[in-house]
Amino acid sequence: MFAERMSRLGTETAFEVLAKARALEAQGKEIVHLEFGEPDFDTPDNIRKAAEKAIWDGQTHYGPSAGMMSVREAICEHFAADRGIQYTPDQIVLTPGGKPIIFLPILALIDHGDEVIYPNPGYPIYESAINFAGGKAVPLHYREERDFRFDIAELEEKISPKTKMLIINSPQNPTGGVLEPSDLERIAELSVANDVIVLSDEVFSKIIYEGKHHTVASLPGMKERTILMDAHSKTYAMTGWRLGYAAMPKAIAERFTKLNTNIYSHATTFVQIAGVEALKGPQDEVVKMVGIFKERRDAIVDGLNAIDGFSCLRPKGAFYVFPNITGTGLKSQELADRVLNEAGVACLSGTCFGSFGEGYLRFSYANSLDNIRKALDRIGELVSKL
Ligand SMILES: Cc1ncc(COP(=O)(O)O)c(C=O)c1O
Repeated sequence: MFAERMSRLGTETAFEVLAKARALEAQGKEIVHLEFGEPDFDTPDNIRKAAEKAIWDGQTHYGPSAGMMSVREAICEHFAADRGIQYTPDQIVLTPGGKPIIFLPILALIDHGDEVIYPNPGYPIYESAINFAGGKAVPLHYREERDFRFDIAELEEKISPKTKMLIINSPQNPTGGVLEPSDLERIAELSVANDVIVLSDEVFSKIIYEGKHHTVASLPGMKERTILMDAHSKTYAMTGWRLGYAAMPKAIAERFTKLNTNIYSHATTFVQIAGVEALKGPQDEVVKMVGIFKERRDAIVDGLNAIDGFSCLRPKGAFYVFPNITGTGLKSQELADRVLNEAGVACLSGTCFGSFGEGYLRFSYANSLDNIRKALDRIGELVSKL
C-alpha cells in the first residue's frame, strides 16, 4: 500500500524509547528520562514576551517562504557578528526547527547514486534523508580514540568522484565531540579540491565548554559551498517553537525556498520575530544554561566512570555523553533495555546513531543534578549485579 520510498526512511529512536518509558510509567514505575536531547529550562522571558507582542501586533499572517526580509537581515547581522561571515538575505532560509535544513537541501541536491559522507555515530536523520533521496550514505567514523573526531585520512579515502556532499556536525550529537580548527582546514581543502558541498550542522554552536566555536564556512572557498545550519532549539531552550536558520549559496537557497513553499510555506511569523529577539537580546540566560550543563556534564562523566565496565570521555560540547560500555560484556541495545526495564533509566543504545555506535550508550544530561545522581546510583546497582 505504501510507496517504496517509505521503506528507505529512518527515524529517531528517542521517540520510541520515550513511548516504552511512558508505558512503564503507566504501570506505576518511576523513570529517569535521559533519552531526550532537550533543555529542561524554560525559554527566556524576553523571547516569550517578544512572541506575545508579535502576536498582539498582528504578526500572524503569511509571509515570504524563505522567512521575513527583516528577519533574514537580522540573521545576516548575526552570522557577521558571530561567525565573521557576510551574507545577503537571499542566501538565508528560515525553517520550522533545524531538521528541514537537513532534509530539504538533501532533497534538492542529491540524485540517485550521489554519495553523501555523514557522521557515524551521528544524528540519525542524516542517513534517513540521504537514503530517502536515493543517495548513497557513506559513513564516516567519529572515533572515541580521537575524542570523537574523525580521522582525516579516512575522510580522504571516502571521497570519490561521486561524492556530492559531506555532512559534518560539531559540537556533535551523540558524542559531544568537537572538531578542531585543523580538522576544519583539511575539510575545507578537500571539499574545494573535490567540488563537494558541505552541510555543517552547528545547532550546538553555543553549547560548548572549552574554547570557541569555529565554522568551516569562514574558511577560504567555503562560503560558496557550505550550507551553514543553526537553530534556536538547543541554544535558547526553544525546542517546541520550531525555528531553524541557515546560510548557503544563493542558487541552493532558491531551490530550498521552493521546497519550503511546497511543504509548509514558511516558519511561523511571530516565532521568526521572537527568534530575532533571541539572537539580539541579552545572552546571559544562555551563559547560565551552559554553566549548569557543564556542572551536570562533570557529574555524569565522573559517575559513569565510577561504574565497572563503563568508560566515558568528558565531552567538549552539546549535552550528551557517549560512554563505552564494552566492559560490561553486553551489547548496547541489551544494556539500554535492561537499564530502562530494571533500573528505570531511559537512555539510548549507541546503535540508534548508526552501526559504529555499537559498544556505547547515549545519555542526555539536560536533566537536573538530582535526577542524574539518581540515574547513576540505579545504573551502578544494576551493573554490579550483571
Ligand atoms: C545534531 C542535530 N541536528 C539537528 C537537530 C534538529 O534540531 P531541531 O529540534 O531544531 O529540529 C538535532 C536535534 O536533536 C540535532 O541533535
